Amino acid sequence: MGRAYKMKGQKRKKKEDKYDKEEELEQLDEKKQVIDEMPGIPIAPQINGDNNKPGVTFIIEKASLEIGKVGKSYQLLSSDEHASYLLKNKRNPADYRPDIAFQAIQTILDSRVNESGRLKALYVRTQQCILFQIKPHARMPRTYKRFSVQLLQKLHITSAGNGEKLLRVIKNPVTQYLPINSRKIGFSHSSEKLVDMYDYVATINNELDLVFVVGAMAHGKIDKEYVEDYLSISEFQMSASYCISIITTSVERKWQIL
Ligand SMILES: C[S@@+](CC[C@H](N)C(=O)[O-])C[C@H]1O[C@@H](n2cnc3c(N)ncnc32)[C@H](O)[C@@H]1O
Repeated sequence: MGRAYKMKGQKRKKKEDKYDKEEELEQLDEKKQVIDEMPGIPIAPQINGDNNKPGVTFIIEKASLEIGKVGKSYQLLSSDEHASYLLKNKRNPADYRPDIAFQAIQTILDSRVNESGRLKALYVRTQQCILFQIKPHARMPRTYKRFSVQLLQKLHITSAGNGEKLLRVIKNPVTQYLPINSRKIGFSHSSEKLVDMYDYVATINNELDLVFVVGAMAHGKIDKEYVEDYLSISEFQMSASYCISIITTSVERKWQIL
């Protein structure tokens, strides 16, 4: 009996091992899916931009999109909702502003540059150096709450229409995805080069693709070696979203997009 019991036990163990392995694989698969795609966002009708015409790429740098395990659930950390959790973990709540990236993404996707099909790509790099690519025709959740839930609790955003991946994590560095014939322009209030953005954009060669790099952090400045020109476009410090709307409006005027 003793032996039979042992055998049974061993068999069960083997089975359990198998299930453990399968479960592990399933979890890995799930994780991979989580990284590859974010299902659930309806797809907007895709406008096929004229590929021969120059376009715009945006890079949102230093986005505060960090997940933390608060209680039993994983959440997108923000100063509004998780101040005491952050203080307990010796972090400065003021650094946790995912709403800045959320608004910046909305402003870019809502722009006429995007509506007209001239937005070629949108990349978001987090403070932890995770690089996301967001498809220009992605229809992101309109409210911050839904954005945070979909982005980091479910970690699933795909198109409801055809399952296309609208947002995915891609490999660094971002420079490998940038158009070769492009002008890379960074934005910082602290730049010594204060320009009128309409005038600046108007002087750029019409054949060039434009890459704009804007920060989505509450403090500090972007400092990227691939940026060719750093501009300040106002005496005042603005939100990333407002800065982006000045950029897109300038480009829309240059390219006569109404
Ligand atoms: C909330 S601000 C970050 C604040 C940061 N102290 C700074 O000045 O860069 C977000 C982003 O908007 C852009 N920005 C804000 N005001 C700007 C200005 N006057 N000129 C150019 N870019 C500006 C920058 O890219 C900045 O990283």
